[in-house]
Amino acid sequence: MLIVNIKGLVGLHPKDKLVIRGNEMASLPVLENAWLLIENDLIKDFGRMDEMPPAVSSLPTIDVQEKYVFPSWCDSHTHIVFAASREEEFAMKIEGKSYEEIAAAGGGILNSARKLQQATEDELFKRASNRLQQMIMMGTGAIEIKSGYGLTVESELKMLRVIRRLKQQFPIPVKATFLAAHAYPAEYKENHQGYIDLIINEMLPQIAAGKLADYIDVFCEKGFFSVEETDLILQAGAKYGLKPKIHANQLSVSGGVEVGVKNDAVSVDHLEETDENVINSLKNSDTIVTLLPSCSFYLGIPFANAKGLIAADLPVALATDYNPGSTPSGNMNFVVSLACIKMKILPEQAINAATINGAAAMEISEDFGSIAIGKKANLFITKPMSSVAYLPYSFGQPQIETVILNGKIYNG
Ligand code: NIG
Ligand code: FE
Repeated sequence: MLIVNIKGLVGLHPKDKLVIRGNEMASLPVLENAWLLIENDLIKDFGRMDEMPPAVSSLPTIDVQEKYVFPSWCDSHTHIVFAASREEEFAMKIEGKSYEEIAAAGGGILNSARKLQQATEDELFKRASNRLQQMIMMGTGAIEIKSGYGLTVESELKMLRVIRRLKQQFPIPVKATFLAAHAYPAEYKENHQGYIDLIINEMLPQIAAGKLADYIDVFCEKGFFSVEETDLILQAGAKYGLKPKIHANQLSVSGGVEVGVKNDAVSVDHLEETDENVINSLKNSDTIVTLLPSCSFYLGIPFANAKGLIAADLPVALATDYNPGSTPSGNMNFVVSLACIKMKILPEQAINAATINGAAAMEISEDFGSIAIGKKANLFITKPMSSVAYLPYSFGQPQIETVILNGKIYNG
């Protein structure tokens, strides 16, 4: 397939550029007035229209005048396997109840766990498929999905099997993260060690045997998992080859970042609450910082200090956090807009964070996250736009016209 008259081909990082740190994030190479050749599922070549070789121009062609071609969004933090929405908590939130108060009143993660435990694997698969389908049509071309609404051996395995089915049935990369350490089930409220033992001795061996997870995650937060508990769980995961991705500093400076770095986390996620020590602890690591501005928007908690993290030369990624409690939305376009509008980072920085650095946070940036010869042709074509910045500027307005996955137009 040949795409011609592209107004701008966006995100042309060299293929060996696997992650972008700090100040370099402001550079988003764009080739204007370009062509792009896709062969099978890969990007084969590209160049300027006035230099297109004649042999290329005889192929089946899409003409995209006034439109941009982007690498697909890489959404590296989601919880899209859940049984039911929680809009009953929406009103409580509007009336001023905090995330912690709603959880204490029987809402929150334990509410979702009750509902998920009752749902069948097929029901969960169907609902998660609908969500993923919608996300793909909004430009997402790679995704990470967490367990963590099961909280029993049986239901955590059920969630991970649903994620495996999504992996098998959707034409995009899907990474699975084991997050049984998301909340203590009521029966373990006074017996933390009992639940940790269940995770370590019952869940992890079965998950490893079934190859059901790529990563391990812990919600390291006051009222959830302490730093010591997080450390224990991450070390147990490492024995099975599961690298950490951590929920850290969402509601307080929790020590989650430091324990993540100590355990070689691929990413530490959230960081709505951050101080100098947190930033310093990341400086000599390869850990990516994944920010989730839709969660701040929905919960009304602070937006992470993206500018400070970038100024400290850290690699910052953006993801949705799509889940029924803190972020009932899987729209990466909106995430990129919010990052610009509320975190005050530039469109170039936000787009790099949502593409190549998101891919890096799933360890797939050799093949995804930028437009380079030999990379997977997971792309989207915009509607006619006046500039790259128009996409985040026109927040909430759908700007994606065509989705291409594995070199083929995807219609769902
Ligand atoms: O990333 N913070 C922990 N987990 C989710 C919210 C889960 C829920 O409320 O259901 C998050 O925000
Ligand atoms: Fe999350």
